[in-house]
Formats: sequence, structure tokens, C-alpha cells
Amino acid sequence: MNLNNETALVTGAASGMGAATAEALAARGARVAILDLNEAAAKAAAGKLGGVGIGCDVSNADSAAAALDEAVEALGAPRVVVSCAGIALASRIVGREGPHDLAAYQQVINVNLIGTFNILRLAAARMMDQETVSKSGSRGVIINTASVAAYEGQVGQAAYSSSKGGVVALTLPAARELAQFGIRVMTIAPGLIRTPMLGGLPEEVQESLGSQVPFPKRLGQPEEFASLVEHIVDNEMLNGDVIRLDGAIRMQPR
Ligand SMILES: NC(=O)c1ccc[n+]([C@@H]2O[C@H](COP(=O)([O-])OP(=O)(O)OC[C@H]3O[C@@H](n4cnc5c(N)ncnc54)[C@H](O)[C@@H]3O)[C@@H](O)[C@H]2O)c1
Repeated sequence: MNLNNETALVTGAASGMGAATAEALAARGARVAILDLNEAAAKAAAGKLGGVGIGCDVSNADSAAAALDEAVEALGAPRVVVSCAGIALASRIVGREGPHDLAAYQQVINVNLIGTFNILRLAAARMMDQETVSKSGSRGVIINTASVAAYEGQVGQAAYSSSKGGVVALTLPAARELAQFGIRVMTIAPGLIRTPMLGGLPEEVQESLGSQVPFPKRLGQPEEFASLVEHIVDNEMLNGDVIRLDGAIRMQPR
């Protein structure tokens, strides 16, 4: 897809895979809107790319709607939308301090699953207004981010895996429903990617995690995620499915 002067909206793009994606799409000529809870970082990242940075909580209906309005007003309706906003949590269902905190579980579902759906519904409503850009009648593509934890959740990942499993399950019905408008929906399920989300772990733990990847024996790079986003944007036959980006890793129970 020719992205020159098209609008791309990326959530969670003040950091990690979202930031790399915003950079890659801007390099292809897209006008980029960066939506992130961290407003200052969103504005700083957007400033470098000539885009707009908007503070936004993807899990909040009003906040996300206002951010979409602002992005569309500044740059026009989106042709590409990538949801990268997400949070991680490690907590057992029953730990030393008792049962899993329910509010913490709800928070992870709110951001990772409901936040992804919130952006999907608001962005799709805007994308429908677009002119078609291909012979097939394509209007655009929405790409979500799940995780391999949707399939092989580890002990302590009950909330995170539930949220990402929901994103996986959302992909096909969304693609089926939005097909009539020429809007594709895809999801990427990354394995272990070197971003600030993993950066809290000591370097030797990161190295050890990387060495568990069958091939290549290392952590993935955010740019490799961005490169897959670009391919999904370009390849119209990719729709309604989840692509693992994981070097064949299958996480063990713990
Ligand atoms: N890093 C990994 O190994 C890995 C693996 C699998 C999946 N993922 C998923 O990939 C996505 C990107 O992760 P990353 O590693 O780049 O993380 P990151 O922590 O570097 O970036 C996440 C961004 O999301 C933003 N954010 C958090 N809550 C938000 C909210 N409510 N509203 C708007 N923005 C919010 C943060 O401010 C941050 O800028 C996440 O959904 C994550 O769950 C990451």
C-alpha cells in the first residue's frame, strides 16, 4: 500500500514496538499519530517524525474518542491503525499473599483487551469514510498486538494471557464484520522482544530468555515487529489471522 500522505495511527507508540512501528510507517511517507498514556513521551516521539502526539488512555471510552477526533482533525482519517498499547503483570491466582488482586486482573483486561477493542471500534468507524485504494476495494488495515502468552501462558500470567487470548479471538469476527467495508484486521503475537517492557529484567535474565529461543537465539528487535506490520499493510491477502513473531519459542510452564 502506498502510504505517502496517508494517516497511520499507532497506540503505545511512545515506547518499544509501537515507537519502532510509528518510525517505520513515517519513513514510508505516512503522517503518524502517536497515542500513548505518556503524553509527554508521545509528543516527543511524534515531534521527531513530524507527526502528532496525543495523550490517551486506550481503555477509556471518552479519552480514546477524543484522541481519535484530535488525530483525524490534525491528519485525516486513518488508513493504518496499529494497537501496541499494553501492560504486563506477573501474579499468581493464589499467591503467598492470598488470591490474585481482582482490580489488578481487571486493569490488565481493561488496557490490553478492552483498550484494543476500543481503538478497533473507533478507528473502524473513521476508516469506513475513506476512499478505496485498491482494485479489491481496500480501505485500510487494523493490526492488533497479542502475545505468545495467548497460547502458552506461564504460571503468573493468568491476567496477561487472558487479555491476549481475547485479542486473538477478536481478530476473526472483526475481520469478518469489517470485510464489507474493505477493512482488514490482523493480529501479531510476539514472543520475546527487547523493549522497555522486558527491560526491567536484569541483563543476564534477558540474555537467558534470548538463549531459549530455538532460532535465532536472541530476543527479537522492535524493528522486526515494525517490519511485519509493513508486510501486513502491503499484503492484502493477510486478513483475519494471527501471526506469531517468536523464533519458534514455546514458553514452558514457568
Ligand atoms: N516486549 C515483549 O516481549 C512483548 C511480547 C509479547 C507481546 N508484547 C505486547 O506488545 C505491545 C507493546 O509492548 P512493548 O514491549 O513495546 O511495551 P512498552 O512498555 O515498551 O510500550 C507500551 C506502551 O503502551 C503505553 N500504554 C500503557 N498503557 C496504556 C494505556 N492505557 N493507554 C495508552 N497507552 C498505554 C505505555 O505508556 C508504553 O508507551 C504490548 O501490548 C505488549 O503486551 C510485548
